[in-house]
Amino acid sequence: MENLSLDASSPKGLVSLVRNVGIEVGPGEVVGLVGESGSGKSQTALAISGLSPQGVRRTSGRIWCDGEELSALSESELHRRRGAKLAYVFQDPMSALNPTMRVGRQMADVLRRARPQLDRGQIVRAAHEILAAVGLTDGAWIMRAYPFQLSGGMRQRVMIALAYGCRPALIVADEPTTALDVTLQAQVLDLILALNGQVKSAMLFISHDLAIVRRICTRLYVMRKGEVVESGACAQIIASPQHEYTKTLLASARAKEAIP
Ligand SMILES: Nc1ncnc2c1ncn2[C@@H]1O[C@H](COP(=O)(O)OP(=O)(O)OP(=O)(O)O)[C@@H](O)[C@H]1O
Ligand SMILES: [Mg+2]
Repeated sequence: MENLSLDASSPKGLVSLVRNVGIEVGPGEVVGLVGESGSGKSQTALAISGLSPQGVRRTSGRIWCDGEELSALSESELHRRRGAKLAYVFQDPMSALNPTMRVGRQMADVLRRARPQLDRGQIVRAAHEILAAVGLTDGAWIMRAYPFQLSGGMRQRVMIALAYGCRPALIVADEPTTALDVTLQAQVLDLILALNGQVKSAMLFISHDLAIVRRICTRLYVMRKGEVVESGACAQIIASPQHEYTKTLLASARAKEAIP
Protein backbone atom coordinates (compact mmCIF):
# COMPACT_ATOMS: atom_id res chain seq x y z
CA MET A 1 0.00 0.00 0.00
CA GLU A 2 1.40 3.32 -1.07
CA ASN A 3 0.33 6.81 -0.09
CA LEU A 4 -3.23 5.86 0.97
CA SER A 5 -5.52 8.73 1.96
CA LEU A 6 -9.18 8.39 2.92
CA ASP A 7 -11.86 11.04 3.40
CA ALA A 8 -15.30 10.69 4.93
CA SER A 9 -18.31 12.86 4.30
CA SER A 10 -19.85 14.20 7.50
CA PRO A 11 -22.54 16.79 8.26
CA LYS A 12 -19.70 19.33 8.62
CA GLY A 13 -18.23 18.44 5.22
CA LEU A 14 -15.31 16.22 4.30
CA VAL A 15 -13.10 14.98 7.10
CA SER A 16 -9.76 13.29 6.61
CA LEU A 17 -9.57 9.79 8.15
CA VAL A 18 -6.23 8.52 6.85
CA ARG A 19 -3.29 10.38 5.27
CA ASN A 20 -0.45 9.08 3.09
CA VAL A 21 -0.21 5.66 4.69
CA GLY A 22 2.30 3.22 3.22
CA ILE A 23 2.47 -0.37 4.46
CA GLU A 24 4.30 -3.38 3.09
CA VAL A 25 3.95 -7.02 4.18
CA GLY A 26 6.07 -9.76 2.64
CA PRO A 27 5.05 -13.41 2.08
CA GLY A 28 5.03 -15.31 5.38
CA GLU A 29 5.65 -12.13 7.32
CA VAL A 30 3.49 -11.08 10.29
CA VAL A 31 3.42 -7.29 10.47
CA GLY A 32 1.73 -5.30 13.21
CA LEU A 33 -0.38 -2.17 12.86
CA VAL A 34 -0.90 -0.53 16.23
CA GLY A 35 -2.42 2.72 17.42
CA GLU A 36 -5.02 4.11 19.76
CA SER A 37 -8.74 3.76 19.19
CA GLY A 38 -9.86 5.89 16.26
CA SER A 39 -6.39 6.23 14.73
CA GLY A 40 -7.57 4.74 11.43
CA LYS A 41 -6.34 1.14 11.62
CA SER A 42 -9.62 -0.50 10.62
CA GLN A 43 -10.36 2.04 7.89
CA THR A 44 -6.91 1.37 6.43
CA ALA A 45 -7.54 -2.39 6.55
CA LEU A 46 -10.98 -2.17 4.94
CA ALA A 47 -9.68 0.04 2.13
CA ILE A 48 -7.28 -2.71 1.02
CA SER A 49 -10.04 -4.59 -0.76
CA GLY A 50 -12.64 -1.88 -1.27
CA LEU A 51 -14.65 -2.66 1.87
CA SER A 52 -14.74 0.96 3.06
CA PRO A 53 -18.14 1.91 4.52
CA GLN A 54 -20.45 4.18 2.58
CA GLY A 55 -19.30 7.78 2.69
CA VAL A 56 -15.62 6.87 2.98
CA ARG A 57 -13.62 7.53 -0.17
CA ARG A 58 -10.03 6.93 -1.26
CA THR A 59 -8.56 10.24 -2.34
CA SER A 60 -5.06 8.97 -3.08
CA GLY A 61 -2.98 5.85 -3.01
CA ARG A 62 -2.43 2.54 -4.72
CA ILE A 63 -2.72 -0.95 -3.29
CA TRP A 64 -1.17 -4.16 -4.59
CA CYS A 65 -1.56 -7.76 -3.55
CA ASP A 66 0.34 -10.68 -4.99
CA GLY A 67 1.55 -8.63 -7.95
CA GLU A 68 -1.88 -7.28 -8.85
CA GLU A 69 -3.08 -3.72 -8.32
CA LEU A 70 -6.23 -4.02 -6.20
CA SER A 71 -6.89 -0.30 -6.36
CA ALA A 72 -7.42 -0.59 -10.12
CA LEU A 73 -10.06 -3.32 -9.90
CA SER A 74 -13.85 -3.00 -10.09
CA GLU A 75 -16.13 -3.83 -7.16
CA SER A 76 -17.07 -7.22 -8.62
CA GLU A 77 -13.45 -8.09 -9.35
CA LEU A 78 -12.53 -7.16 -5.77
CA HIS A 79 -15.35 -9.34 -4.49
CA ARG A 80 -13.82 -12.29 -6.33
CA ARG A 81 -10.39 -11.57 -4.85
CA ARG A 82 -11.71 -11.64 -1.28
CA GLY A 83 -11.26 -15.13 0.11
CA ALA A 84 -9.12 -16.16 -2.83
CA LYS A 85 -6.31 -13.62 -2.72
CA LEU A 86 -6.94 -11.98 0.61
CA ALA A 87 -8.96 -12.83 3.67
CA TYR A 88 -10.06 -10.93 6.75
CA VAL A 89 -10.40 -12.07 10.34
CA PHE A 90 -12.44 -9.57 12.34
CA GLN A 91 -12.78 -9.00 16.06
CA ASP A 92 -16.37 -10.21 16.07
CA PRO A 93 -16.71 -13.40 14.01
CA MET A 94 -20.48 -13.24 14.43
CA SER A 95 -20.55 -10.22 12.13
CA ALA A 96 -18.70 -12.13 9.41
CA LEU A 97 -20.89 -15.25 9.60
CA ASN A 98 -24.45 -15.51 8.32
CA PRO A 99 -26.61 -16.33 11.37
CA THR A 100 -29.26 -18.16 9.33
CA MET A 101 -26.93 -20.53 7.51
CA ARG A 102 -25.20 -23.64 8.82
CA VAL A 103 -21.44 -23.23 9.32
CA GLY A 104 -20.61 -26.03 6.87
CA ARG A 105 -22.53 -24.42 4.03
CA GLN A 106 -20.76 -21.07 4.63
CA MET A 107 -17.38 -22.76 4.71
CA ALA A 108 -18.15 -24.59 1.47
CA ASP A 109 -19.21 -21.35 -0.24
CA VAL A 110 -15.98 -19.60 0.72
CA LEU A 111 -13.76 -22.57 -0.16
CA ARG A 112 -15.44 -23.06 -3.52
CA ARG A 113 -14.75 -19.45 -4.44
CA ALA A 114 -11.16 -19.55 -3.22
CA ARG A 115 -10.24 -22.95 -4.62
CA PRO A 116 -12.45 -23.57 -7.67
CA GLN A 117 -10.35 -26.53 -8.75
CA LEU A 118 -11.76 -28.66 -5.88
CA ASP A 119 -14.83 -30.84 -6.47
CA ARG A 120 -17.68 -31.31 -3.97
CA GLY A 121 -16.11 -34.19 -2.06
CA GLN A 122 -12.75 -32.45 -1.91
CA ILE A 123 -14.40 -29.30 -0.51
CA VAL A 124 -15.98 -31.29 2.33
CA ARG A 125 -12.67 -33.00 3.05
CA ALA A 126 -10.84 -29.66 2.97
CA ALA A 127 -13.37 -28.21 5.44
CA HIS A 128 -12.78 -31.12 7.85
CA GLU A 129 -9.02 -30.74 7.48
CA ILE A 130 -8.91 -27.04 8.16
CA LEU A 131 -11.19 -27.37 11.19
CA ALA A 132 -8.92 -30.10 12.56
CA ALA A 133 -5.92 -27.83 11.94
CA VAL A 134 -7.37 -25.23 14.32
CA GLY A 135 -8.16 -27.85 16.97
CA LEU A 136 -11.83 -28.34 16.15
CA THR A 137 -11.90 -32.11 15.91
CA ASP A 138 -15.68 -32.59 15.84
CA GLY A 139 -15.91 -31.13 12.36
CA ALA A 140 -19.17 -32.89 11.48
CA TRP A 141 -20.98 -31.31 14.41
CA ILE A 142 -19.50 -27.86 13.77
CA MET A 143 -20.48 -27.90 10.12
CA ARG A 144 -24.06 -28.84 10.96
CA ALA A 145 -24.27 -26.10 13.61
CA TYR A 146 -25.52 -22.55 13.21
CA PRO A 147 -23.05 -19.85 14.28
CA PHE A 148 -24.96 -19.03 17.50
CA GLN A 149 -24.52 -22.62 18.68
CA LEU A 150 -20.73 -22.21 18.80
CA SER A 151 -18.80 -20.45 21.56
CA GLY A 152 -16.98 -17.20 20.77
CA GLY A 153 -13.64 -18.99 20.79
CA MET A 154 -14.94 -21.67 18.41
CA ARG A 155 -16.36 -19.07 16.02
CA GLN A 156 -13.02 -17.26 15.93
CA ARG A 157 -11.25 -20.57 15.21
CA VAL A 158 -13.68 -21.22 12.36
CA MET A 159 -12.90 -17.78 10.87
CA ILE A 160 -9.16 -18.35 11.19
CA ALA A 161 -9.55 -21.84 9.71
CA LEU A 162 -11.44 -20.40 6.76
CA ALA A 163 -8.95 -17.60 6.19
CA TYR A 164 -6.02 -20.01 6.05
CA GLY A 165 -8.03 -22.70 4.25
CA CYS A 166 -8.34 -20.30 1.33
CA ARG A 167 -4.54 -20.02 1.23
CA PRO A 168 -4.66 -16.33 0.37
CA ALA A 169 -1.60 -14.22 -0.36
CA LEU A 170 -2.66 -11.80 2.41
CA ILE A 171 -4.59 -12.16 5.65
CA VAL A 172 -5.76 -9.04 7.45
CA ALA A 173 -6.57 -9.75 11.10
CA ASP A 174 -8.28 -6.81 12.81
CA GLU A 175 -8.07 -7.30 16.59
CA PRO A 176 -8.76 -11.03 16.20
CA THR A 177 -8.33 -11.83 19.90
CA THR A 178 -9.76 -8.73 21.58
CA ALA A 179 -13.15 -10.31 22.28
CA LEU A 180 -11.61 -13.46 23.80
CA ASP A 181 -10.53 -14.07 27.39
CA VAL A 182 -6.81 -14.08 28.15
CA THR A 183 -6.26 -17.85 27.98
CA LEU A 184 -8.08 -18.15 24.69
CA GLN A 185 -6.20 -15.11 23.39
CA ALA A 186 -2.88 -16.87 23.91
CA GLN A 187 -4.14 -20.05 22.23
CA VAL A 188 -5.48 -18.18 19.21
CA LEU A 189 -2.23 -16.21 18.81
CA ASP A 190 -0.22 -19.45 18.90
CA LEU A 191 -2.59 -20.87 16.32
CA ILE A 192 -2.16 -17.91 14.00
CA LEU A 193 1.63 -18.15 14.28
CA ALA A 194 1.62 -21.88 13.59
CA LEU A 195 -0.70 -21.59 10.58
CA ASN A 196 1.24 -18.68 9.18
CA GLY A 197 4.40 -20.76 9.41
CA GLN A 198 2.74 -23.43 7.25
CA VAL A 199 0.71 -21.41 4.75
CA LYS A 200 3.16 -18.48 4.38
CA SER A 201 0.51 -15.86 3.82
CA ALA A 202 1.47 -12.25 4.40
CA MET A 203 -0.32 -11.17 7.57
CA LEU A 204 -1.27 -7.68 8.69
CA PHE A 205 -2.12 -7.96 12.37
CA ILE A 206 -4.04 -5.01 13.81
CA SER A 207 -4.11 -4.34 17.52
CA HIS A 208 -3.99 -1.53 20.05
CA ASP A 209 -2.02 -3.81 22.35
CA LEU A 210 1.77 -3.62 21.95
CA ALA A 211 2.25 -6.62 24.22
CA ILE A 212 0.33 -8.86 21.82
CA VAL A 213 1.95 -7.41 18.73
CA ARG A 214 5.39 -7.93 20.18
CA ARG A 215 4.66 -11.62 20.63
CA ILE A 216 3.84 -12.36 17.05
CA CYS A 217 5.15 -9.60 14.75
CA THR A 218 8.56 -9.02 13.27
CA ARG A 219 7.85 -5.51 11.97
CA LEU A 220 5.52 -2.83 13.17
CA TYR A 221 3.71 0.30 11.99
CA VAL A 222 2.43 2.79 14.56
CA MET A 223 -0.57 4.92 13.57
CA ARG A 224 -1.82 8.04 15.21
CA LYS A 225 -4.64 10.30 14.06
CA GLY A 226 -4.73 8.82 10.57
CA GLU A 227 -0.97 8.80 9.94
CA VAL A 228 1.87 6.34 10.34
CA VAL A 229 4.18 8.01 12.83
CA GLU A 230 6.77 5.26 13.19
CA SER A 231 7.68 1.95 11.59
CA GLY A 232 10.44 -0.62 11.71
CA ALA A 233 11.57 -3.83 13.34
CA CYS A 234 9.38 -4.64 16.32
CA ALA A 235 12.28 -5.32 18.69
CA GLN A 236 13.99 -2.11 17.61
CA ILE A 237 10.90 0.04 18.16
CA ILE A 238 10.24 -1.47 21.56
CA ALA A 239 13.88 -1.11 22.60
CA SER A 240 14.10 2.52 21.48
CA PRO A 241 10.86 4.16 20.37
CA GLN A 242 11.50 7.39 18.45
CA HIS A 243 8.08 9.01 18.47
CA GLU A 244 6.52 10.45 21.64
CA TYR A 245 3.30 8.63 20.93
CA THR A 246 5.04 5.24 20.64
CA LYS A 247 6.69 5.94 24.01
CA THR A 248 3.24 6.53 25.50
CA LEU A 249 1.89 3.29 24.02
CA LEU A 250 4.88 1.43 25.39
CA ALA A 251 4.52 2.99 28.82
CA SER A 252 0.89 1.90 29.01
CA ALA A 253 1.79 -1.65 27.95
CA ARG A 254 4.51 -1.68 30.62
CA ALA A 255 2.09 -0.34 33.22
CA LYS A 256 -0.03 -3.43 32.61
CA GLU A 257 3.20 -5.39 33.23
CA ALA A 258 2.78 -6.86 29.81
CA ILE A 259 6.27 -5.96 28.67
CA PRO A 260 9.35 -6.21 30.89
N1 LIG B 1 -18.45 4.72 8.50
C1 LIG B 1 -17.69 5.75 8.85
N2 LIG B 1 -17.90 6.96 8.30
C2 LIG B 1 -17.14 8.00 8.67
N3 LIG B 1 -16.14 7.94 9.56
C3 LIG B 1 -15.91 6.77 10.15
C4 LIG B 1 -16.65 5.60 9.83
N4 LIG B 1 -16.16 4.59 10.57
C5 LIG B 1 -15.17 5.09 11.32
N5 LIG B 1 -15.00 6.40 11.08
C6 LIG B 1 -13.98 7.29 11.67
O1 LIG B 1 -12.72 6.94 11.16
C7 LIG B 1 -11.70 7.15 12.13
C8 LIG B 1 -10.83 5.95 12.21
O2 LIG B 1 -11.61 4.86 12.67
P1 LIG B 1 -11.07 3.37 12.69
O3 LIG B 1 -12.24 2.49 12.92
O4 LIG B 1 -10.23 3.12 11.51
O5 LIG B 1 -10.15 3.40 14.01
P2 LIG B 1 -9.32 2.22 14.67
O6 LIG B 1 -7.90 2.66 14.71
O7 LIG B 1 -9.63 0.94 13.99
O8 LIG B 1 -9.89 2.20 16.16
P3 LIG B 1 -10.21 0.97 17.15
O9 LIG B 1 -8.90 0.63 17.81
O10 LIG B 1 -11.18 1.53 18.12
O11 LIG B 1 -10.78 -0.15 16.35
C9 LIG B 1 -12.42 7.47 13.42
O12 LIG B 1 -12.30 8.85 13.63
C10 LIG B 1 -13.86 7.10 13.17
O13 LIG B 1 -14.72 7.95 13.85
MG1 LIG C 1 -10.58 -0.80 14.56
